[in-house]
Amino acid sequence: MSNKKIILTGDRPTGKLHIGHYVGSLQNRVKLQNSGDYESFIMIADQQALTDNARDPEKIRNSLIQVALDYLAVGIDPEKSTILVQSQIPALSELTMHYLNLVSVSRLERNPTVKTEIKQKNFGQSVPAGFFIYPVSQAADITAFKATTVPVGEDQEPMLEQTREIVRSFNSIYGDVLVEPEGYFPPEGEGRIPGLDGNAKMSKSLNNAIYLSDDADTVQKKVMSMYTDPTHIHVEDPGHVEGNTVFTYLDIFDDDKEKVADLKAQYQHGGLGDVKIKRYLNDVLQAVLDPIRTRREQYAQDIPGVYKILKDGSEKANVVANQTLKEVVEKMGLNYFG
Ligand code: TRP
Repeated sequence: MSNKKIILTGDRPTGKLHIGHYVGSLQNRVKLQNSGDYESFIMIADQQALTDNARDPEKIRNSLIQVALDYLAVGIDPEKSTILVQSQIPALSELTMHYLNLVSVSRLERNPTVKTEIKQKNFGQSVPAGFFIYPVSQAADITAFKATTVPVGEDQEPMLEQTREIVRSFNSIYGDVLVEPEGYFPPEGEGRIPGLDGNAKMSKSLNNAIYLSDDADTVQKKVMSMYTDPTHIHVEDPGHVEGNTVFTYLDIFDDDKEKVADLKAQYQHGGLGDVKIKRYLNDVLQAVLDPIRTRREQYAQDIPGVYKILKDGSEKANVVANQTLKEVVEKMGLNYFG
C-alpha cells in the first residue's frame, strides 16, 4: 500500500455535463490527477441517480455513457485515475446496510443538502426511501475506498459531515477501520458559474447551460443569446460589468486578464457593443472547448472501448471495496464461517 492520499469524487449521471461542472470540479480533478500526489477514484453514481429516477432507468443508462465521455474528454486519464460505476460495486450496498443502523431518521431529516433537494424536487409526501438515505450510501462510497480527500462543491459539505459521524461511530463501537475524509474545496474564484440567463446556477432544468458536448454552432448561438446588461441599449451607452454574465465568463475563461480589464473599461465608458463582446467571448470559449470536443469525438467512435474502461475501473475498485468490507465484517464479528 502506498501512503498517497486517496481522492474519491463522483457525479450522478442524470444528463450530459456542462461548463459549470468543468469549472466547478472537472478541471480541478484533472489538476489533482496530474499532480501525482493522489490516488484518484472517480465514481459515476448511477445508483444515487436512480434514487429519484426509478421510473426512468433509460435516462440513467444513457447519461452514464455521456458522463464517461465527458470525463475522458476533459482529460481524466484512465491510466492515472480509476473511473468506476457505483452499481457494479456490490460492497457499497452492503456497507450502506451496516451504516444505516448508526444513523437516526431525525439526523437524516436534518441533513441540509437532502432538505434542500427534497424541496426542489417536489416529492411532496412521497420521498423515496432510497433518496432519503442517500447520504449513508455516499458515506459507503467514500469509506469503501478509505478516501482521505473528497473534492466537492460546498453544497456537499453536509455529506462529508454525515460521513465523518458514521466513521467515528463505527470506529468507536467496533474498532478502528474507517478513515475520516476531509473536503477539498477549489480555491476561491473557481467553482461558480452563472447560467446563460444570469441565473446563479447553470442547469438542465433552467435550459441555461453550455454543454461540453455542444458543437461550435450551438455554443455560438448560446453565447449570442446571453444575458448582459438590460440598461445597455445603444452601443454608446455606458454599461455595467457587475452581474453581466458575459464579463463573468470572461473573468473565468480568458487568461488574458489585461485584455479583459481593457474591455471592461471600454464597456463601462460606452462604445463597446454587446455583439462585439459576445463574439470575443465566443472565441475564448471555443478555444477552451475545441480540444475537449475533439477528444470526446474520438472516444465516441469506440463506445465498447469506453465501456471497457468503466469495466476495468470497476474491477479495480471492487478489489479495494471488498477489502474494506472484509475488515468491516470482521470488526463487527459477522465472519461466522471464517
Ligand atoms: N452526490 C454527488 C452528486 O450530487 C455524487 C456522489 C456520489 C459523490 N457519491 C459520491 C460525490 C462520493 C463525492 C463522493 O453528484
